[in-house]
Amino acid sequence: MPKLLALTGSPSAHSRTDVVADLALRHLTRSHPGFETARLAVRELPAADLLAARRGEPEIRRALEAVAEADGLVIATPVYKASYTGLLKAFLDLLPQDGLVGKAVLPLATGGSLAHVLTIDYALRPVLAALGARHVTAGRFVLDSTVERGSGPDRLRPEAELDLLQAVDEFADALRVAGRPPTAAGPPAPATTPAPATAPAPAPALTAADALTATAAP
Ligand SMILES: Cc1cc2nc3c(=O)[nH]c(=O)nc-3n(C[C@H](O)[C@H](O)[C@H](O)COP(=O)(O)O)c2cc1C
Repeated sequence: MPKLLALTGSPSAHSRTDVVADLALRHLTRSHPGFETARLAVRELPAADLLAARRGEPEIRRALEAVAEADGLVIATPVYKASYTGLLKAFLDLLPQDGLVGKAVLPLATGGSLAHVLTIDYALRPVLAALGARHVTAGRFVLDSTVERGSGPDRLRPEAELDLLQAVDEFADALRVAGRPPTAAGPPAPATTPAPATAPAPAPALTAADALTATAAP
């Protein structure tokens, strides 16, 4: 059964990014049965071992093994200071140089300002490429104001959720192609062209009003 790992890079215990990653995983298991899914929040790894790059320590080693064994990764990060988080980078830095070769990746970001909607393309995508990822599907930037948390279950505003689920469907298609063995005619064609991560545009329902009400980026 193909393995799918969601890697989340928020230091926050009540992370909106985790909500988005969980929605993506839930949709995958419901609508695309046949994947084994798991989520790894980097903040739950021992900080001292992470920062000192102690790859041999049990929890770090298990986390690195989980990445190595995954057929696909959802890599989800909040935007911090116009980029992905240092926490996520600390973990990605522990991967071998070919750590993402052969894997499909769905990049996701949450942020408070549409000013940083291109963070996936300008900051995260080059790192994924350097690690050998070839099937990086179109990602999504999710405005934090569209994440609804409160008395009920965590969820996204419907329009934002629809857009996210479309990205997850495309990712599921890429996972199937990435997992297919090469044929005599050559390796399987990429499921997606290396289009910008944020194309199509982020949640179509995001209006100028949404942008104005979004949390101001610190
Ligand atoms: C230290 C810090 C820096 C941030 N920098 C940005 C930023 O540069 N651009 C942006 O759009 N949002 C920024 N934000 C807002 C977060 O990206 C946004 O609220 C995100 O959804 C938080 O995700 P989380 O709850 O998973 O941590 C920042 C938030 C914090 C705490």
